Amino acid sequence: MDVKSVGVIGAGQMGNGIAHVMALAGYDVVLNDISQEALDAALETIKGNMARQVSRGKISEDDMQAALSRIKTTLNLPDIGKTDLVIEAATEREAIKQAIFEDLQPHLLPHTILTSNTSSISITRLASRTDRPERFMGFHFMNPVPVMQLVELIRGIATDEETFATCKAVVDRLGKTAASAEDFPAFIVNRILMPMINEAVYTLYEGVGSVQSIDQSMKLGANHPMGPLELADFIGLDTCLAIMNVLHDGLADTKYRPCPLLTKYVEAGWLGRKTERGFYDYR
Ligand code: CAA
Repeated sequence: MDVKSVGVIGAGQMGNGIAHVMALAGYDVVLNDISQEALDAALETIKGNMARQVSRGKISEDDMQAALSRIKTTLNLPDIGKTDLVIEAATEREAIKQAIFEDLQPHLLPHTILTSNTSSISITRLASRTDRPERFMGFHFMNPVPVMQLVELIRGIATDEETFATCKAVVDRLGKTAASAEDFPAFIVNRILMPMINEAVYTLYEGVGSVQSIDQSMKLGANHPMGPLELADFIGLDTCLAIMNVLHDGLADTKYRPCPLLTKYVEAGWLGRKTERGFYDYR
């Protein structure tokens, strides 16, 4: 199937990054959110990130203007239904994602492929609630989307080969690399990354090291570009906790128990960079 248009649901940090790379690769993009403020902020972020790419000689001014002209924003979810490929990038809560797919379903073209950018939720379960489980799969970008090379592609139990091949071709056209992962809790990247971040929070909780020493140790001692606590703030502590809960519930092993300190920060509303407070203070 030849994908020409892409619908992106959710204009947060993942959604705006996905709209950015899709538009630069030549796809017509319809970006949806329930808040006009979020849509306006997303367009500003995309413009800022593309302008930086222009200033660093990665893309031309013409590329940027052409890409921006391909992005339409809408508060009306049904507008998304007229696209060839839908990527849902809403909040990492299963009930919200299911409600979105349910609302969207009556407005979909018959051939439209549905995907979710979920970082951990079962693709098979999300797909089973739609009218097209064979044309449903996981399409998981990494943050920051314009920079990170990997996209995890996750087949649900019913995903057909044409759907997988179509999504793989889209990843190729983005110039990114697809990794195929089976549909188990948190797939590959977060199955490995989140327990490490959770362990870093335990290391802080137990007083083994300070925030600074934990991050510095992993940056200088393991060559990670960001320390684990800085990375947790960057991803969002609510997202980290949600993923740990999916691992803990789905794999029923205490080694995935979320650190109580992580839970406490989320309860305090200290969600990292997006709330200007997490393990670091950004105010
Ligand atoms: N959007 C777009 N571009 C960005 C960006 C953003 N938010 N942040 C940085 N960049 C670009 C910069 O413009 C710069 O581009 P050039 O190479 O063209 O100059 C490049 O990225 C490097 O940026 P900086 O020089 O400003 O900063 P840096 O060298 O410290 O790199 C980083 C920043 C790329 C974010 C780096 O720290 C890094 O790789 N961190 C780890 C990120 C990571 O692990 N992501 C995965 C998170 S897990 C996930 O996403 C899965 C999930 O489901 C939770």
